Amino acid sequence: MEQVLGNLNGIDFTLGETILELSYLISALLFVFGLKLLSHPETARRGNFFAAAGMLLAMITTLLLHKNPAGNGISLNNVWIILAALAVGSVLGWTIARRVKMTAMPQLVSFFNASGGAASALVALLEFPNASMGDQGSILVTILGLIIGSVAFSGSMIAYGKLDGKIGDIFSGIMKYVNLFLLLCIVAIAAFIMTSGQSPAQLNWAIYLLLAVSLIYGVMFVMPIGGADMPVVISLLNSFTGIAATMAGFIYNNQAMILGGILVGAAGTILTLLMCKAMNRSLLNVIIGAFGGDGGSAVQQEGGVMKEISLSDASILLSYSKSVVIVPGYGLAVAQAQHVCHELEELLSEKGVSVRYAIHPVAGRMPGHMNVLLAEADVPYNQLVEMENINPDMPNTDVVIVIGANDVVNPAAITDPGSPIAGMPIINAHLAKNIIVMKRGRGKGYAGIENELFFDDKTRLLFGNAKDSLQNLANEIKSL
Ligand code: TAP
Repeated sequence: MEQVLGNLNGIDFTLGETILELSYLISALLFVFGLKLLSHPETARRGNFFAAAGMLLAMITTLLLHKNPAGNGISLNNVWIILAALAVGSVLGWTIARRVKMTAMPQLVSFFNASGGAASALVALLEFPNASMGDQGSILVTILGLIIGSVAFSGSMIAYGKLDGKIGDIFSGIMKYVNLFLLLCIVAIAAFIMTSGQSPAQLNWAIYLLLAVSLIYGVMFVMPIGGADMPVVISLLNSFTGIAATMAGFIYNNQAMILGGILVGAAGTILTLLMCKAMNRSLLNVIIGAFGGDGGSAVQQEGGVMKEISLSDASILLSYSKSVVIVPGYGLAVAQAQHVCHELEELLSEKGVSVRYAIHPVAGRMPGHMNVLLAEADVPYNQLVEMENINPDMPNTDVVIVIGANDVVNPAAITDPGSPIAGMPIINAHLAKNIIVMKRGRGKGYAGIENELFFDDKTRLLFGNAKDSLQNLANEIKSL
């Protein structure tokens, strides 16, 4: 029996418990500090390290010092199983994360998100038989962990498939009602479990039914969400995973898990609200899957003429401009052209041209994608200007260079109420005096719709892989 160290409000506490609680407090501080550092590209790497160190500390102290209510620690057999699972998971995670291409990062994030949701749902499923039926609070957190974890799992797997181009959008007006019906079923089954007064063994069928309906809801809720609206759903699923982990933390009464989950849940929720604002969508619409890429009636100018510009004309136009705004998009990430883009921007700056980057909140395929990409190329952070701050300057901008961006500069969002991206705020590239667009061909953006900007009288196309086009342009400017 471990020596009692003291007594607080009539409860004895031991040295082991004290160290464990202290380690959780330190972990919590490391999580919060890590999150703070993650908010800036320059410190994000260190932030990741601090947060991971906090998690490692919590795992080690739990393994060594955790005791169940009967006062027994984790048995040696279980410690070996946990260590083996940790080793397999770490090796897999490490290998996948090292091998994944930068452009496939969003898929990987969705996959990890799905794993978090699945883990929480499994915890709830395994612990349900141990829940004491008189204790409504513990049943509620178990049920919530199961529902939210399952929705996060199946929803994130569908998001993974969509981001990877393996799953298309399936949209039908009826899905809104199907989703509402599924939600009602989930609430009804949960209420039945809470109020039936039956034992966990008798309720086994209900808990598995709840699992099945929640998994189906996850699929059905992400399925109709159209291309350009994916950012909202990805961050929402992220917050679901955090909330599910919090519920799992409540099941085990583990402060580190509760706090870690709350931080992920809160960060995901804030991001969801920011994404909703960026896409001009209401959260309720996302939850019932009411909007999506049903094709819309976007302006289809398949036959329109895109006017090209030669390298020498483009270099002269840029060199003699006063102000240039670069709009980076997903294509910049695909081409891995961030370094040469920075080189071009420095060349122009040396010639006295004011060069800034216009950052759309959903450019690329993950929140902050462009910020991370440009930070990798050491572009000074103060040169990145948020959409709402750069838009008022657009009419005075001599040249906008659109590099691998499409949906985020598509004026259909303003001009075509039937477009799938109608209402989404865009970077007003079309208001600049001249527009140079770098893309490989006539490929569409993520929302799969035509972009009238490319057919505008002020727009000139520089076709080719963005990296090659930028390199050729930089060489041309050097030789001027
Ligand atoms: P997109 O609309 O996806 O357009 C990318 C453009 O880049 C395409 O038109 C493509 O045309 C061009 N491109 C691709 N590879 C290229 C290369 N190697 N060199 C040059 N050009 C290349 O990109 P965006 O404007 O950044 O918009 C992002 C879209 O993704 C939005 O609809 C957004 O809602 C969605 N989305 C965002 C997120 C987050 S969280 N950011 C998550 C999921 C979905 P070509 O094929 O003709 O070259």
